[in-house]
Amino acid sequence: MNLKTEISNRRTFAIISHPDAGKTTLTEKLLLLGGAIHVAGAVKNNKIKKTATSDFLEIEKQRGISVATSVMTLDYKGKRINILDTPGHKDFAEDTFRTLTAVDSVILVVDSGKGVEEQTRKLMEVCRMRATPVMIFINKMDRDSKDPFDLLEELEDELKIATSPFSWPIGSGRRFKGVYNLAEKKIQLYQPEKSSMPELLLSTDDINDPDLKKHLDDDQIKNLREETELASEMFESFDKNLYLQGYLAPVFFGSALNNFGVPDLLETFVNIAPPPLSTRTDQRKVMPEEENFSGFVFKIHANLDPKHRNRMAFLRISSGRFERNKMYFHTRLNRKMRFAAPATFMANDKSTVEEAFPGDVIGLYDTGNLKIGDSLTEGENLHFTGIPNFSPEILKEVINKDPMKTKQLEKGVRQLTEEGLAQLFVQQPGNRKIIGTVGELQFDVIKFRLEHEYGAKCDFRTLPFNKAYWLSSDHKKDMDEIIRKRSNTIAYDKSGKPVYLAESDWMLKIAKETHPGISFHNTSEMNVKAETESV
Ligand code: G4P
Repeated sequence: MNLKTEISNRRTFAIISHPDAGKTTLTEKLLLLGGAIHVAGAVKNNKIKKTATSDFLEIEKQRGISVATSVMTLDYKGKRINILDTPGHKDFAEDTFRTLTAVDSVILVVDSGKGVEEQTRKLMEVCRMRATPVMIFINKMDRDSKDPFDLLEELEDELKIATSPFSWPIGSGRRFKGVYNLAEKKIQLYQPEKSSMPELLLSTDDINDPDLKKHLDDDQIKNLREETELASEMFESFDKNLYLQGYLAPVFFGSALNNFGVPDLLETFVNIAPPPLSTRTDQRKVMPEEENFSGFVFKIHANLDPKHRNRMAFLRISSGRFERNKMYFHTRLNRKMRFAAPATFMANDKSTVEEAFPGDVIGLYDTGNLKIGDSLTEGENLHFTGIPNFSPEILKEVINKDPMKTKQLEKGVRQLTEEGLAQLFVQQPGNRKIIGTVGELQFDVIKFRLEHEYGAKCDFRTLPFNKAYWLSSDHKKDMDEIIRKRSNTIAYDKSGKPVYLAESDWMLKIAKETHPGISFHNTSEMNVKAETESV
């Protein structure tokens, strides 16, 4: 197959949701439909969310599992579908944000009873920043649900995205009987079945089909006719270009658990979701169909086997054809590298891949040369952008508890933050190390891993800061001034960029007023205008 066909057949996306909305269940049902797995339960264990913060063994075990399920590939109707997994736990949100840099579209899962939740909002913000096309699956219609029209309104208001229903629920809660496919004008009624496909009781494209009476009461039939008439009008106004630009989301209703409405979602997804798109670098846009290979690392799993210190870097291919054992140019290190055993992932199996194409994600075994954000090319000096760090919300100082192990601690902190588990800031004088995260859980994980993987002991001292803002200025004089005047609130990130540590929104406001020549950014990539927000 030529490169163009390979590209047009690929769909790389992530399923995202507030924890518990049904991301794992939906992923599993998509894999079942695509024939990549044969029983439900295969992906289920890939979760840190239900783990008590102190249950580290469980976290470790799950880290192993999550390598296998970081990318799940399936072939469906001639399309190669790459599903990138994102952690369910909110404390790992930054990992999710980074994964979103490696996808071309997303499916957002919303709980029909809860509607838009905190993480739904945050994830949608990231999608908006990147203009990622979004499809929405409203799940758990078999439970007590909000009214479907109210849900659409809530999505539009809270997520600031236009919606267009593609399917409509027939009933809800215990009386949830099936879905109406608005594109095909088809009614499908099912008998629930949790582990495989539900039994189809009736499939008809006649809304006046007399057989409807066998399964629905008069009220339900009346509602179905009235609601789908309105919903059809909303469906008719769907504009694919607006979807592709990230302004309009097709919405599906269903139950992942019972597999209602999931086939409609998958069918539409393969038909309209975008193939691999262009990727931005600091030099130019890279188009997938370019002859020369290029790709970037968006995720690292360190210490797969603590005895061997090996890690796996996940590389998204942006252009050209990747080949095993070919020499590629590592632009940050300015040297050539070769990968003898690149891994690909089919459901839960990992195997060596000979070649890979734009949209694909491969795993590269690494001994410490690759970092998140690194670019590989065939020689061109490109640096992919759009893989920013986000402002952490909890900042704590690392206190070394065993001075004999200072070196191990430094190395551990460096490597774990390179893995993307947390961010490292250094404050001068004194080389004070500050770890920034979005959740408390990371501190437990870091402490545990430092001890078990590096033999270093530490504590964390809570600092009075609740946000970090990257600073930029057109004038060196202004930058020097803020650094001098506010030295106890200034630290440096890993690449040496100055960061202002804010004690409160009020202090941020004052800092901004006192230093009008300085811009404060809540992501590290302030030069990429569309992807960063100046606050
Ligand atoms: P997540 O990955 O987004 O965190 O959610 P996950 O799929 O694990 O689903 C969270 C809970 O919601 C699970 O129940 C799951 O079975 C349930 N669930 C998912 N989809 C549906 C649905 O369509 N209808 C109903 N009624 N429930 C659904 P749990 O009790 O927390 O876990 P488990 O013991 O069932 O595994």
